[in-house]
Amino acid sequence: MSKFSALLSLLALIPALAHAQSAVWGQCGGIGWTGATTCVSGSVCTELNDYYSQCIPSSAAPPPPTSSPTTVSSTPTPTSPSSGPSPTDTPSAGNPYTGYEVFLSPVYAAEVAAGAAQITDATLQSKAASVANIPTFIWFDEVAKVPNLGTYLASASALGTSSGQKQLVQIVVYDLPDRDCAAKASNGEFSIADGGQAKYFNYIDQLVAQIQQFPDVRVVAVIEPDSLANLVTNLSVEKCANAETTYKACVTYALQQLASVGVYMYMDAGHAGWLGWPANLSPAAQLFAQMYESGGSSPFIRGLATNVANYNALSVATPTRSLRATPITTSSSTSTSALSPMLTSQGFPASFIVDQGRSGQQDLRQQWGDWCNIKGAGFGTRPTTNTGSSLIDSIVWVKPGGECDGTSNSSSPRYDSTCSLPDADQPSPEAGTWFQEYFQTLVSQANPPL
Ligand SMILES: *[C@@H]1O[C@H](CO)[C@@H](O)[C@H](O)[C@H]1NC(C)=O
Ligand SMILES: *[C@@H]1O[C@H](CO)[C@@H](O)[C@H](O)[C@H]1NC(C)=O
Repeated sequence: MSKFSALLSLLALIPALAHAQSAVWGQCGGIGWTGATTCVSGSVCTELNDYYSQCIPSSAAPPPPTSSPTTVSSTPTPTSPSSGPSPTDTPSAGNPYTGYEVFLSPVYAAEVAAGAAQITDATLQSKAASVANIPTFIWFDEVAKVPNLGTYLASASALGTSSGQKQLVQIVVYDLPDRDCAAKASNGEFSIADGGQAKYFNYIDQLVAQIQQFPDVRVVAVIEPDSLANLVTNLSVEKCANAETTYKACVTYALQQLASVGVYMYMDAGHAGWLGWPANLSPAAQLFAQMYESGGSSPFIRGLATNVANYNALSVATPTRSLRATPITTSSSTSTSALSPMLTSQGFPASFIVDQGRSGQQDLRQQWGDWCNIKGAGFGTRPTTNTGSSLIDSIVWVKPGGECDGTSNSSSPRYDSTCSLPDADQPSPEAGTWFQEYFQTLVSQANPPL
């Protein structure tokens, strides 16, 4: 096409664009929104918050800003794929894990089976193979993986029908533009400068489209590891300061859209050695309460996930040795106890899930902030709803142990020097890829033992 005819066809589009209207339940405004700002007839553009206005059918009352959880236990109302998400889905009050069996990640089961096959010692090999039976979260760290979610949900649905045991699939939503703004090891595929926000919204839409088809399967999601915590402590890093508005808009979109199809969500809240310092706790509570509100204060926004991919114990009997300074919260349970009242007073009655996948051994790090392939780590407490705390819904394994935290290869574009510290296991491959030697250590150091 010549430039001239390209220009002509562009001009021909302008009236159409000017008159384009958003569909019922579609977005029609908000910070960063460049699409249509009017709605098809029969619906009204309603501002839900600064980041999101939605076309609500005129017949439907606008959703109340703070719908409180009902006390009647009910699963989310099934939504048919063609009717679009219903904003009136009511979650059950209480712990979303209660009454459900957690679906095993087929990806992790395959990795573990392959890893175990490489082990020559028969005892260690059988212990390693048993890890495939422990539920972990499935990470959606790039949009190309999203279609797999439908496959897992279909398997979970079939298993639920054949076993009579309702299934719960655990996912990590992890694809923000300019992801991992304060480090390099987990840089993602989208950049803010290159339309990342719209691409992220599309990524969320694709997750929603899959989830909507399987209303019988419960989905629990961890929302965006490290991102909001970085906004609490790392705004002095230019990339984080630049990302603040976009992170908030994207997380708001994720919370609202995933709530509309009944996904129970825990926003990632870093870990005890990060946000657990006195100066960080209160700003963290403010930020999470703000996100809860901008997400629509839905009861599906169940709370916070802590210690994701980190190494802190749930509780420590004695102060750990020789760290130069100690945050007031030395463990995941002290950090939840410290955060919880602050969140509640800000209007966010948060519950917690805590990652203990690699927390079996303690006193391994030289500094609380060290996070990369910590040497000598072992698999930790198995996932359970028997957590010993009414604030904690479940101990979970979010990080699939054996997948690498980051490469120690200083020539790699994603090299982060944290991965070459003396307490980091080396040499290590790229983040997310299998790290066999590390997996074997996790198996042999597991506590409780496998
Ligand atoms: C980000 O914040 C954490 C916690 O305060 C700190 O340990 C880390 O050094 C910061 N990262 C950068 C790149 O400044
Ligand atoms: C380190 O990374 C560079 C750049 O990606 C690559 O060419 C090289 O092969 C890597 N070295 C090792 C040992 O993996």
